[in-house]
This record gives sequence, C-alpha cells and structure tokens, in this order.
Amino acid sequence: MLPLAELHLHIEGTLEADLLVRLARRNGVPLPSEDPAELTARYADFADLQAFLDVYYANLAVLRTEEDFHDLAAAYLSRAAAAGVRRAEIFCDPQTHLANGVPLEVVFGGLGAALADARSAGLSADLLVCFLRDLGGEAAEDLLRRALPFREHFIGVGLDSAEVGWPPRLFAKAYDMAAVEGLHRVAHAGEEGGPEYVREALDVLGVERIDHGNRALEDPDLVRRLRDERVPLTVCPLSNVALKGVPRIEDHPLPRMLELGLVATVNSDDPAYFGGGIDVVVAALRSALEMSDDDLAALAANSFEAAFVDGPERARWTAEVRAWRARR
Ligand code: ADE
Ligand code: ZN
Repeated sequence: MLPLAELHLHIEGTLEADLLVRLARRNGVPLPSEDPAELTARYADFADLQAFLDVYYANLAVLRTEEDFHDLAAAYLSRAAAAGVRRAEIFCDPQTHLANGVPLEVVFGGLGAALADARSAGLSADLLVCFLRDLGGEAAEDLLRRALPFREHFIGVGLDSAEVGWPPRLFAKAYDMAAVEGLHRVAHAGEEGGPEYVREALDVLGVERIDHGNRALEDPDLVRRLRDERVPLTVCPLSNVALKGVPRIEDHPLPRMLELGLVATVNSDDPAYFGGGIDVVVAALRSALEMSDDDLAALAANSFEAAFVDGPERARWTAEVRAWRARR
C-alpha cells in the first residue's frame, strides 16, 4: 500500500450511507430513504458543486451527539489507516453543526476523542476548521472567536463551500486573526472559481496550500509562481469528475500538474459521495490515467512535503515512500 498523507478530506464527507441511516435512527431524524443503497444511488449525478453541497448539508442533520462525531471520525480513520494513510489533516465545518443546534463542545469533543484514539494507534491526525464561504466574512470571524477556546483541537483554518461569488478577500480579517493565533492557513480555490481566486488566496489570505487549484492551470504566470514557491495543491480527482469540473477521469490534469513541476498531492475530498477513499482514488490514477509507480511515489512524497508536520516525521514517511518504490 502506498504510504501517503491525506490533506484534503472533509470529515462530514466521509458519512457513508450505512452510518447515515444508523445515526438517523439513533437520533430520530427523518431521511428521504432508509435504504443505504438507494441513498448512495442519489449521489451518482451531481450537476455541480452546489448540487452536491445541498445533499451534503441536509445529511448532516443526523449528527447530534459527541458519540455521533466520534463514530464518524473513527470510521474514517480506521479506513484511512487500512488504505496506507500515515497522516490525515481533516477539515470540519462547525458552522453547519452550530446552525443545527449542536454546540462546539460536542463537535470538538467527539472528533477530538476519535483523533486521540487514532494517534494512540499510530496514525498522525489533526483538524482544520473550515469557514463556509457562502456565510460571509463576519460569520467566519465570529466562528473563529467561538472556536478559539477549543484551540488545542485544531491546527489551522480552511475555506470551503460554494466558491464562485465568494472571493477570498471577503475573509481577509478572519485569516489575519488566524495568523495572529499561529494557525495554519489553507483555502479551497480554483475548484469552480478562476485563477484569480487562487491568486487572491495566496496574496490576501496568505495560505500555505491551495485546496484543488485546478483552474490555476489556465494562467501560466500563476503556474510558474506555484511551482517556484512550491505551493502545494491538494488535488481531488474523483471529486472533480463527480462535480463536473473535469468531464472524465481520463481527462484529469493531475499528470500535467506533475509534469509542470507543481507540488500536487492526491486526496479523496468527500469519499462517501465521490466513489471511494484514497485507495480507490489511487487505483483510478493507475488504471484510467496510467500513472506509474514513479508518479505515485512523487504524489506521496509531495503529500509529506505539504503536510503540517515536523522534520523527523516527514523524513521517516518520505523514507517509507522510497522503500515502497524500491519494492515495486
Ligand atoms: N465542502 C465539502 N466538500 C467540498 C468541496 N469539494 N468544495 C467546497 N466545499 C466543500
Ligand atoms: Zn474539499
């Protein structure tokens, strides 16, 4: 199994249909169907990012208790460890849960307990708190103020949800606050928005990585900058196909990103909705994109370069990638 770091993963997007049904029953929350197969079938044809987000947010009404958040994260972490993940940097969307009447103590308590168990079992994992961009800048600042008492539970902030019409500059103050707190900063950009969203995330928000970044390829100057400054892109091929950013997996620009010298990494984004976890994504890179062992080792090495970890851990995992390549 290829050892890697998964750096673009929404914990809420790991809610598999069987757990969704179990939590709905446990909490008395109605669902459009109680048949996991029928629910999963509804994920087959999203028109775009917003069509997916509508289903994703609706399903999150089943998450009510600390145990629910624990069970969600524990299930992902155990699948990730089995798929070769050594390090997981996990997004969460607390504004959604607050809107559902779930306090931050419950969200961080449950997720934090599952991450602590994973660390004890040898999987390195941390949380990044995302701002929902379609709630605007002031809501992001308010969330960060409310989350700071739980500072020990997260290492950074991100920016997700509907992209177009919600440019990075709206979140300048929230990101400045995060920087003052010594938090890492990343943002979704260039998923549906153009290259200007990527440039603004770098220049105005001071992000250390770009989540997705596909549309940066439309701007050669920006590509040169991303390459020269070694700004990692957390790329999500199955997500891009599912949300119609890329017509077919065979057309995905990930091989070109590597050829251009970009620090591209591979990730599953919302594995419950887009066809599978990181092992399934890697298998698709091999079969549909004909990526070689060298390509996969480069993606894995990039993931450890891009991870928010100390030097010794990075060196140990990078050596594991070299050993994996040597065994092939
Ligand atoms: N929230 C969960 N998945 C997302 C994605 N792919 N883009 C933006 N926001 C998200
Ligand atoms: Zn994402």
